[in-house]
Amino acid sequence: MCGIFGYSGKETIVSSVILSGLKLLEYRGYDSWGIAVTSKGKTTIKKKPGKINLAEDPKLTGSTGIGHTRWATHGGVNKINAHPHTDCSGDIIVVHNGIIENYRELASKFLRKHSFVSKTDTEVVAHLIEQELSKSKDSKRAVLKTFQKLKGLNAIIVFFPKSNELYAIKNSSPLIFGTDKKKKSFYLSSDVIAFPKDVEKIYFLDDETLLSFGKNSYSLNSSSGKELKLALTAFSQDVRGREMGAYSHYMEKEIHEQPKILSEFVATKEKEIRNLAQKIDKAFGSYLIGCGTAFYACLAGSYLFSTIAKRHINPAIGSEFSYLVDFLKKESLVIPLSQSGETIDIISSIKHAKEKKAKIYALTNVYGSTLYRQADYQLLLSAGPEQAVVSTKAFSTKLAALLLTAYTLRGEFETGKKLVLESVEEIKKILTSKQNKQIAKKLSKKSHVYVLGRGPSYPIALETALKLKESSYVHAEGFAGGELKHGVMALIETGTPVLVLNPEDETYQDTLSSAYEVKARGAYVIGISSKNNSIFDEFINVKDTKEATLISYAVVGQLLGYFTALAKGVNPDRPRNLAKSVTVK
Ligand code: AGP
Repeated sequence: MCGIFGYSGKETIVSSVILSGLKLLEYRGYDSWGIAVTSKGKTTIKKKPGKINLAEDPKLTGSTGIGHTRWATHGGVNKINAHPHTDCSGDIIVVHNGIIENYRELASKFLRKHSFVSKTDTEVVAHLIEQELSKSKDSKRAVLKTFQKLKGLNAIIVFFPKSNELYAIKNSSPLIFGTDKKKKSFYLSSDVIAFPKDVEKIYFLDDETLLSFGKNSYSLNSSSGKELKLALTAFSQDVRGREMGAYSHYMEKEIHEQPKILSEFVATKEKEIRNLAQKIDKAFGSYLIGCGTAFYACLAGSYLFSTIAKRHINPAIGSEFSYLVDFLKKESLVIPLSQSGETIDIISSIKHAKEKKAKIYALTNVYGSTLYRQADYQLLLSAGPEQAVVSTKAFSTKLAALLLTAYTLRGEFETGKKLVLESVEEIKKILTSKQNKQIAKKLSKKSHVYVLGRGPSYPIALETALKLKESSYVHAEGFAGGELKHGVMALIETGTPVLVLNPEDETYQDTLSSAYEVKARGAYVIGISSKNNSIFDEFINVKDTKEATLISYAVVGQLLGYFTALAKGVNPDRPRNLAKSVTVK
């Protein structure tokens, strides 16, 4: 996944406008970056491997330019493969997000006479447009014809520096157009988070429609070239997620934002929660789908709906759901959970679900995301932009949403609200404790960590293990306590750390027995519970708040992941090999 950005408007330090936008898109990919701007009639392309350093801004004044922050798919991470890419003449400049599945065929079929400099799939786009322009001088037609040749999910911005014109078109990968109040400055971005505060109106490009802009005007055309109406909607930038403030990392900041965000959620989302509960109540089967952390929220939800509302709600991994949709009916309700709303495994799953006429109720954190716009109903998590690659506040907000919905199905929204707020008070205490940092130091020296949970704590065990893995690269395995003797026990040695999630609920005694069993084999037992026990080598005291205890436990797992990363000298915001949202399969 990559971030692409374009600007055309009032004369300004255009390189700064683009680099600031790209910096906010780095969560989408950050192995290299590049910009192309026109300044005083001269086109400058600057690109580099590595993360953007705003101090390297060439401070070029101008009125138009594009930029790209890359997550390499085709072609290694180096300056040549960084975007933008140009045609042979240098008069056509392209940035791209996605994968062009047929780029080799296109190059061999149409571009034999063209000279390529990079190993990327993207570069064929610039040469194809050049090829089309050799037949007709119509830039709009050339871009449309080129895009229609591309196979795969893509978004491109094309820059003609000589005419200062920009063109944008996409299929599936997001692209949003933004303007200031007076419509004098135009922006394009992969995510609204990158828009400056003066953007007050936006438009989400639909697939296969061509946006043209530059020189104080913009227009929209269909794939056949027909002029379309571009209806702008009001927008105000949520800058909450932008600055790191006094924190050392976005992950730390976003963990600490949770008490406020959860309190705001329960105070403001009652109407949406009641609507979701009503749709579940009426549905012939409901399915929670998500990937990674989001799936663990789905799995936790299946326990919450069972124990609280006596409802059977099926959880499914997003990438697996496409293989499960045959039983869907038009009365089915599919509930995707996705922080970004761009995860390709979710987008493709709901496409299949919609073919079965099922209704889609999206819980997402990004207004206007692909999932948001394709769903029949939406519940915005309103957790504020989540910049760290690892998900924290969006996860806890998903848990709160599912818990409140389950209680609403039982006619007890207020009970659910009270429990979440009790958990918030407990989280505030957890956030001030030094203990997690001390325990993390020990975990950072281990090669393997095990996390054991039963019932509703089992998904939290999986999530805690994921936080350790993706934040600190320490291998961790979450598992259902009952599975211990079915195999996991073979891995327990003297000193093996085992985190035991032991709330005083129906799982308490059985989980304690598992703790005794691993202890007997030499494990170092770290108990997370409201009740200490002599079997624990370490005891993290977390007050029970009935089903909302999950949320408090999740925060302990987040902190352990964060501090273990610090102990290992890893940047938890930008873990290797991972992107914030997986928008390509
Ligand atoms: C979360 O810590 C991970 N980075 C990852 O598992 C993430 O939850 C998953 O990719 C789903 O993302 P989404 O919520 O944006 O769909």
